[in-house]
Order: sequence, then C-alpha cells, then structure tokens
Amino acid sequence: MKILFVGDIVGSLGRKKLSEWLPKLKEKYKPQATIANGENAADGRGITEKNYKEILQSGVDLVTLGNHTWDKREIFDFINDAKKMIRPANYPQSADVPGRGIAYIKINQLELAVINLHGRSFMGEYEDPFRVGGELVKEAAERTKHIFIDFHAEATSEKEAIGWFMDGQVSAVIGTHTHVQTNDGRILPKGTAYLTDVGMTGFYDGILGMKKEPILHKFTTQLPQRFELPSRGRSRLNACLIEIDDQTGKAKKIETIRIDDDMTLFEL
Ligand SMILES: [Fe+2]
Ligand SMILES: [Fe+2]
Repeated sequence: MKILFVGDIVGSLGRKKLSEWLPKLKEKYKPQATIANGENAADGRGITEKNYKEILQSGVDLVTLGNHTWDKREIFDFINDAKKMIRPANYPQSADVPGRGIAYIKINQLELAVINLHGRSFMGEYEDPFRVGGELVKEAAERTKHIFIDFHAEATSEKEAIGWFMDGQVSAVIGTHTHVQTNDGRILPKGTAYLTDVGMTGFYDGILGMKKEPILHKFTTQLPQRFELPSRGRSRLNACLIEIDDQTGKAKKIETIRIDDDMTLFEL
C-alpha cells in the first residue's frame, strides 16, 4: 500500500498548486490513498466547505486539520457532515467537539485508519496526545494493521517523541504545522515511517506561505502586523510518499517530495 501525504495547503495558490500537480504525482507514484492537511486552505486560516470540496476534487481522499481548524465560522455548519475530513482528536471533552479525530479509508480488501493529533508544546491547552493517540491506535488496531498519524505540532522534540512512542504500533507518524519540510524521513526500528514535518503547499517566495514583508516588519520593529496571503506568485508543493507492507502494516519506504517553481526534484 502506498500513501501520498501532502503538507498544509495554504490559500488559493496552495489549492491551485495541488490541482495542477496532484494528478501528475498520482500518475507517477500510484498511491492507494492520498491525504492532505487543509488547515490553511481558506486564506491561510481555516477551511470553507468550498475549499474542502475543491481539495477532494483535486484527488485527495481525506483531509486532516490542525490549530486553524475553527478559524472559519462555517466549519461548524459542515464538519459533522464532512465524512472525508478529520480534526485533531485530543481536545479536552472531545465528545462535545464537532467532527472526528479518526477516519478509515477503504482500499480494496484493506483499510487505512487515519488519526489527527495536536501537539502541546508551544501550542496551547490540549489533551495529552500520547494518551489519546494511544487509545485511538488501540481502537484502530482492532480493525486494521494500517494506521497513519498526522501529528500537527510545533516542537521537533515532541514530534520525535510521538514517533518513538508509536513505533511498531502504527505504519507512519508524519508531522505537519511548521510548513518547513524536514530531511529526516526514516523507518524506525519497529517499522513506523517517521518524518518530523512534511512541509507546506502554497506561496514559495514568502515566509511559511505568507507575504514576507509584513512578517519582516514585525520581526524588525516588534509592531503588530496583519499577515497577508498573496494571490499571485511562485508556489511549491511539499509531500511525502510512504510504502507499507500489505500483510504486516509495517512501513517499507518513505520518501519526501518537493516541487518548487524554480527547482523541481520531480521527474515524470
Ligand atoms: Fe499549517
Ligand atoms: Fe498549524
């Protein structure tokens, strides 16, 4: 089983890049499941129903979210009906929070469980991702050996910790949120594919997908700034491909994918 995972889609440039490149990536890698993080799909913050449908239309099977999940008010109107979207599972009182933190993708006779978790270091008050994640993995393991985790977190240490914590229990732990792709993809000793951060899909000549000028101004003056999202310009797509053994659910291979407008490492 091959899984293609696309990092945080940021704004209209990110959605455009996805629709342009996903068909080519799917043709080349032939993944059985395609997952994408959509927490920044609207204008860098949150996701609308229209964005959600557009991402699915581009060829994504399941959308994951993160700290920007609730930024667009309309999310509350459609998240419970959005069967192909999950939000972080570890909210306190998760049962009272709309949406779900786990979903299953059917792949012929197999099933892939996808779990979305939120980090806590520098991120706010969430339920313990180790405990909640562990419980969900236990639940998923009753149905399938194929389990994928999107760990949406800031601290590299917390991400590595979740990776080691889950080693041997899940097929893959892939980080999102920092928007910068890391070069540490590996298979942990007990068979879990691990990558600290898959990176983002959106504006290339900025900072984390946003226009650089207001952010530079903020850093140099310490004055509050409104971050802006460009609607034109060069873009990038960051993703990774994970290959899992159909019988055991253990990962066999992980490779990162990076498509930048000025330098693509992708060959058709
Ligand atoms: Fe993000
Ligand atoms: Fe985030």
